[in-house]
Amino acid sequence: MTVTIVGAQLGDEGKGGVVDLYGDTADVVARYQGGDNAGHTVVHDGEKYKLSLVPSGAVRGKVGVLGNGCVINPRTLFDEIESLREKGLDPDVRVAERAHVILPFHRVLDGIEEDVKSEDDQEVGTTGRGIGPTYEDKAGRRGVRVGDLLDPDVLRDRLEYVVPQKRALIEDVYGADVSELDDPDAFDVDALFEEYREIGERLAEQNMTVNASAFLTDAMAEGKTVMFEGAQGTIIDIDHGNYPYVTSSNPTAGGAAVGTGLSPNVIADGEIIGIVKGYLTRVGSGPLPTELGGVEGDTPDYDEQGDGENEELATYIREEGGEYGTVTGRPRRVGWLDMPMLRHSARVNGFTGLAINHIDVLAGLDEVKIGHSYELDGEELLAMPPTTEEWGRCEATFKTFDGWDDVDWAAVAEEGYDAIPENARTYLEYISDELDAPIYAVGVGPGREETVVVETPTGAA
Ligand code: IMP
Repeated sequence: MTVTIVGAQLGDEGKGGVVDLYGDTADVVARYQGGDNAGHTVVHDGEKYKLSLVPSGAVRGKVGVLGNGCVINPRTLFDEIESLREKGLDPDVRVAERAHVILPFHRVLDGIEEDVKSEDDQEVGTTGRGIGPTYEDKAGRRGVRVGDLLDPDVLRDRLEYVVPQKRALIEDVYGADVSELDDPDAFDVDALFEEYREIGERLAEQNMTVNASAFLTDAMAEGKTVMFEGAQGTIIDIDHGNYPYVTSSNPTAGGAAVGTGLSPNVIADGEIIGIVKGYLTRVGSGPLPTELGGVEGDTPDYDEQGDGENEELATYIREEGGEYGTVTGRPRRVGWLDMPMLRHSARVNGFTGLAINHIDVLAGLDEVKIGHSYELDGEELLAMPPTTEEWGRCEATFKTFDGWDDVDWAAVAEEGYDAIPENARTYLEYISDELDAPIYAVGVGPGREETVVVETPTGAA
């Protein structure tokens, strides 16, 4: 059996910590989408590890697999592996030959397109890592795959086809002067060929490339436990999120099958754990009906939504929860928990269990709210609507809960679920009832040991 970890909201729900917790008994931890736009902070033996590409299980000596659904920036990959080695770890990371490669021009194009969109307040607020342009080339059948790096002739052919197109795009459409870019080699076939051929040799020497589908199937046949680590979250899924304010991949559970080459039956036979943060944060643009307070200049179109006046409370939660982007350091927008969003998420993913994080961050508040439903054009909605325009007009109807005291959370984690303050349990059980999924874990602090474990998913036992 497998365990799939999925972000139920907008990313940054604390998935890394849960992967770390349940991944303990897993032999292999695989990512199935995204690239170095993800930010995973793992705290292990008092040491903080910030990873953006390497699966967080690698911190704990698991085999990490980057599946075919991922986009790989090899520069980041080797930098992260190197920094883990410097800290005394020996990560074993395998990369799918079918995964696509983020090339330097993808990052340049990501930045330029955001700049152009921002002239009309239409920017997505991407992480600038070249994610969208790389998936565009994948869908456009002009991408470079990891397997292509291993064969210099194929690599040269691919580059000779795609690079002149990108150069024409940046010069003729965007009017940029390539020679003035920070990385003028980003559009130079020969320079790219040399760098990426060498990367291919390095990947081959270190035996890092795999057929992910076969590798994972064999691992399971040998009785190994596989965990799938989703990056980002359901509401920024390209199909099920709030398009166009989304990432370009499928963080939802279905992505685990497509993005690794395992059958949907395998994923469905296992557990699918939804990771929920006890409140809401968002980096980047787009609606947020339960928003408490935004970040200046971030959301010009949606400032009216939510109780956006409540800057003080938003700032308090942001500081208590350390709500700054792991990858970019950007301050996150903050809101109350949003049930219509979570009901949509539960339907799309089919959660068999929930891990609810950051309950400690809300401690000490007199009252805590949850957006129970929306009102749109005089109608009550229990789940978020499919268009972002409609979602942007939704007004949240709140349910108010009594707050809970700040307590010794480490002791609570040790004693178990019943030691959680009663008002917090009421809050948690409301979420579980509404989503019809049991609580498997409650995060009460950043460390792995600061988690109340209620249930261990079967696949991880
Ligand atoms: P991209 O993935 O860099 O293209 O960014 C697209 C959108 O997804 C932006 O709103 C980003 O802020 C958001 N995003 C990407 N990765 C993460 C993440 O790991 N956590 C939260 N938001 C993310």
